[in-house]
Amino acid sequence: MSKAVVHPIPRPDAAAASRAGLAFFGERSILGALAALHQALGDVFQLPLPGFSSVVLVGPEANRFLLTESRNQFVWRAEGDPVTRLLREGILVSDGAFHDDLRQIMTPGLHHRLFERFVGAMWRTTDLVTSRWRDGAQIQVLDEMRRIALGIVTETLFGDDVSRQVDQLWRAILQTIRYISPGPWVIWPEIPRPGYGRALRRMDEYLYHLIAQRRARAGAQRGDEPDLLGILIDAGMNDELIKDQMLTMLIAGHDTSTALLAWALHLLSRHDEAMARARTEVEGALGAGAPGMADMQRLSYLDQVIKETLRLYPPIHLGSRIAVADVAFREFVIPAGARVLYSIYLTHRDKTYWPNPEVFDPDRFAPENASQRQAYTFLPFGAGPRNCIGAAFAQVEAKVVLARLLQRFAFLPVGGPVKPRMRATLEPNLGALVEVRRLEHGAFGA
Ligand code: HEM
Repeated sequence: MSKAVVHPIPRPDAAAASRAGLAFFGERSILGALAALHQALGDVFQLPLPGFSSVVLVGPEANRFLLTESRNQFVWRAEGDPVTRLLREGILVSDGAFHDDLRQIMTPGLHHRLFERFVGAMWRTTDLVTSRWRDGAQIQVLDEMRRIALGIVTETLFGDDVSRQVDQLWRAILQTIRYISPGPWVIWPEIPRPGYGRALRRMDEYLYHLIAQRRARAGAQRGDEPDLLGILIDAGMNDELIKDQMLTMLIAGHDTSTALLAWALHLLSRHDEAMARARTEVEGALGAGAPGMADMQRLSYLDQVIKETLRLYPPIHLGSRIAVADVAFREFVIPAGARVLYSIYLTHRDKTYWPNPEVFDPDRFAPENASQRQAYTFLPFGAGPRNCIGAAFAQVEAKVVLARLLQRFAFLPVGGPVKPRMRATLEPNLGALVEVRRLEHGAFGA
């Protein structure tokens, strides 16, 4: 029996490296460099950065291999990474049976039957934040969407109305996100990182305070069904473990939605036809009052807009794993200990699967087109057993918030198109400005 021939995993030669370098400096982003390497080297290649050797995977076959078929050969947790240091024993950075137990405990906190309640909170939070917008003002979309997304996560999952103290927490939240955003620590993990301690302590204080308040109310009537905080307490976890899950959900659950909402508004404000279709749909489907889940299911074009936004600008554009043993994939062997990165961004922009991938075209997700799509080519929420626990929540949230915004405001572009910036999520650079105009339709009350 002949042994399969193993090939070395392609790594950039001088020509590919210089093309990647040019793309990096031209676009001021590593995304351009990764795209150049993908084009030169194919769906499996090495990223030989000093001190950070990794293998990049692109495309449906690689995604299925990493996230489903061979998932047990990989772990998530990277000791020493800022994400692990921040989230400690949080579900996102845990592996094995401990992760699976957490997932089982937490899933009911995002169950569909709670969504009717969630939709109301999403609607109210959008109104609360936008009540400060003046007609004709230019708003920083990223900041405003962050206020909305933060309010939604804290109210729906922790039963807290963060809006009263969002200004006091603002700096701490932004610092926390900066702490886990890519930086020199990627190639130099031991680099001193002063200036974060106070912000991280502030976040902990806020969450421990919520836990203490809830424990003090234990046994008191809390409504029909416990929220996520109630579920974590009922599971018998100690405060530290609960806090780790809350911080995970707060960061993973709001920074991603912030980016999605900001990109969606940015794109809609620059695509009149899509904006008009989405608005007409919202006007036809929703009445003057607050909607419920059934109304959301009627917003199919808005759903396409959200998916197309997630395709072009996946907030989590890169997922990371570590190989626990040598693992064979195609003609290659990924060595034990290697960092493996799966690029959602490159898969979503690969012209093998997406004609004219750079074009914003929500009709790609019309039912007649979507049904043809190959599995693992569209994965904004990851795939397999470690996919996003908040995927359904996030999509309903985006629909509710955008529907309410389209009901009440027109959005006009300010300046040219913005480039993506890699922070903890892929966000619009400089926050993206839009001008807001209040709509005075009789049918749409405040
Ligand atoms: C547009 C919004 C969102 C996007 C694009 C997104 C994307 C993702 C992706 C790609 C993963 C998998 C990462 C991997 O394979 O390593 C993930 C995991 C996760 N997400 Fe989200 N997410 C979003 C919203 C949310 C929300 C709203 C929550 C919580 C309410 C949340 C909580 C989590 C958690 C806890 C995990 C880890 C799950 C596990 O390891 O079992 N995400 N998300």
